[in-house]
Amino acid sequence: MLMTPKVIQAFVEARMATDHSGHDVAHIQRVAQLCDVLLTNYPEADAAITMSAAWTHDILDDKLVADIAPVRRQLMTTYAEAGLTADQIAAITAITAHLSFSANLKQHYQLSLEGQIVQDADRLDALGAIGIGRAFYYGAHTGAPMYDPDIAPRTTMTKADYRQKSPVINHFYEKLFKLGDLMNTPEAKKIADERITFMQTFVSQFKSEWHLDNNF
Ligand code: ADP
Ligand code: NI
Repeated sequence: MLMTPKVIQAFVEARMATDHSGHDVAHIQRVAQLCDVLLTNYPEADAAITMSAAWTHDILDDKLVADIAPVRRQLMTTYAEAGLTADQIAAITAITAHLSFSANLKQHYQLSLEGQIVQDADRLDALGAIGIGRAFYYGAHTGAPMYDPDIAPRTTMTKADYRQKSPVINHFYEKLFKLGDLMNTPEAKKIADERITFMQTFVSQFKSEWHLDNNF
């Protein structure tokens, strides 16, 4: 991968090796690859900041780490070992702290260009065929049912609501279908729209099989 210091990759690979909640190294690699693609449209962006933030964006997620402080210290040491400047490290930290959908629920945080690229790439990986796979994988991890026609998708959600088990199909309405309009860059929006169209086809086929519509 372009511009990603090896020490950062090694640190992330070691920390995420055992994850089974959809935050595996393969997710990080796909996000980094998508960032590479998006970066070609933004030569003014700092690629080292973008790629380092892409690689480390899920490392301090409180869903994944019980005690964040020691991991944060190791991460800061790793950034310095990678040769990043104090300004670059501050820029990366500002991105990883404010990237997530839930971090922006209460108030919208204005990300740098590099942060907008990483956020778009992270959100794109929640869409399309891979997004569908990840959603069901996550649902199995939390013990949520695939679908329940008696539970309507929620329309207003707080951060705590996103932690609650709801049927996987509801997550499509509660978050994933909304991501198209939340993309920062037009290049990501185009990819998001294609992926969401595919997911809508999937959900419609899923429901027609569930209810045995049109089968007899
Ligand atoms: P990230 O931190 O990479 O943005 P999240 O932690 O929000 O992603 O979610 C990881 C994956 O699990 C995503 O693909 C997301 O769509 C899926 N996911 C998160 N919450 C739910 C949920 N309540 N039901 C089903 N899938 C979920
Ligand atoms: Ni992520």
